[in-house]
Amino acid sequence: MAIWHINGGRRLEGACFVQGSKNAVLPILAASIVCPTETNLLNVPQLSDVAMSLRILRQLGCTAEQQGNDVYIDSRSIVTNIIPHEMMECMRSSVLFMGALLARCGEVRLSAPGGCKLGSRPIDLHISAMKALGAEVEEQGSEIICKAASLKGARIELPFPSVGATENAILAACAAEGETVIYGAAREPEIVDLQEYLRKAGAYISGAGTSNITISGFDAERYVGHRIVPDRIVASTYLCAAAASGGDIELRGVDSRQFSRLQHFLNSAGCDIIPAKRSVRLISDGRLNAVDTVVTGPYPEFPTDAQPLLMAALLKASGRTDFVENIFDSRFGHTRELSRFGADINVEGRQASVWGVRSLQGATVSATDLRGGAAMLIAGLSADGESRIIDSGHITRGYENFDYKLRSLGADIFMEM
Ligand code: UD1
Repeated sequence: MAIWHINGGRRLEGACFVQGSKNAVLPILAASIVCPTETNLLNVPQLSDVAMSLRILRQLGCTAEQQGNDVYIDSRSIVTNIIPHEMMECMRSSVLFMGALLARCGEVRLSAPGGCKLGSRPIDLHISAMKALGAEVEEQGSEIICKAASLKGARIELPFPSVGATENAILAACAAEGETVIYGAAREPEIVDLQEYLRKAGAYISGAGTSNITISGFDAERYVGHRIVPDRIVASTYLCAAAASGGDIELRGVDSRQFSRLQHFLNSAGCDIIPAKRSVRLISDGRLNAVDTVVTGPYPEFPTDAQPLLMAALLKASGRTDFVENIFDSRFGHTRELSRFGADINVEGRQASVWGVRSLQGATVSATDLRGGAAMLIAGLSADGESRIIDSGHITRGYENFDYKLRSLGADIFMEM
């Protein structure tokens, strides 16, 4: 349990480097077992989800260690294909070991994954992809067993561009005989990073970043070195915090094209945004206007993960902003907690309407999930007076040294463990 103490109302000023992407590194950690190889990853954020993935790798028999932002994995020896339930339930991305272990061992036993509670999160598309590649999938109580004497290249048509199902299909397809084409694949930058890693590991894969991805096996390399891309959702979080509190910040080491939709909205809200090749600067006087309806969708549309963040940034914006959540069926849990700061939000089904208020007051709230918790920090930073965010471990799943980095930008915040 952590308590984040915030004294709100400070402008944010200065520069900071953005951490490596959680959603890029987690599939790459699973991918590290597809071929028996040694992997060195750079720019890996120190997060509880990363630590859990490394524990899973060790449980499977690999060497897997993190020192600072470097990770070393030796996956040449794997001793089991079973992942215990208590490891699976800690995070959503544990499900990616399904495709990776199936590729490596031809059999895997695990249970349904955990993760943020954002409504129903089935894994039917993951399972259909494994079946399309020739696996038999059995569900015995909470256990899922996937087996394949040999995997065969296939046409996999995803009815929805699920990020996780695309990644799982890619991982399993690496060990399939012949060519696999995934149609309707997710196009997120994290999938492009997975492709880059797998290519270095010896896989024949192309098309990531488009809707059609082709995979045709691999010739294993003995050693892979890879640097994880910067985290576009963490970058979006800092921009939203400075937009709401007022400030002048520069984020370094980012690819600003990956979060251009967010910049578009912050710009229409009244912020100055200056993107450069490897950085972005935001200047805000903290007086924002409402913006056109924000509709979440698969990349390159507006990301669902940034929906709570932009909402928190616009709580004091003059006028009304509507948010339509199209990815998850229950991703407005943060609105009730944001109301405790004095925000005026009305939720009906998949739409939330925010009427900007003159000021927010410090409050004690509970982090509902990872990005919802970050939204509460943004609200606390722009509220008058003291706030406390009580967090049972959601925020540290996704943000590295968050209180330290915000303090370096001038925020009055500290995290009590
Ligand atoms: C990933 C991200 C998460 C982000 C989400 C959407 C990681 C570790 N997590 O999650 O931060 O919010 O993408 O951008 O990368 N669905 C099904 N059946 C399936 C799979 C998904 O119906 O088999 C549905 C889900 O319930 C959801 C939608 O598809 O409504 C999107 O899910 P998906 O893209 O798979 O998200 P994740 O990979 O879980």
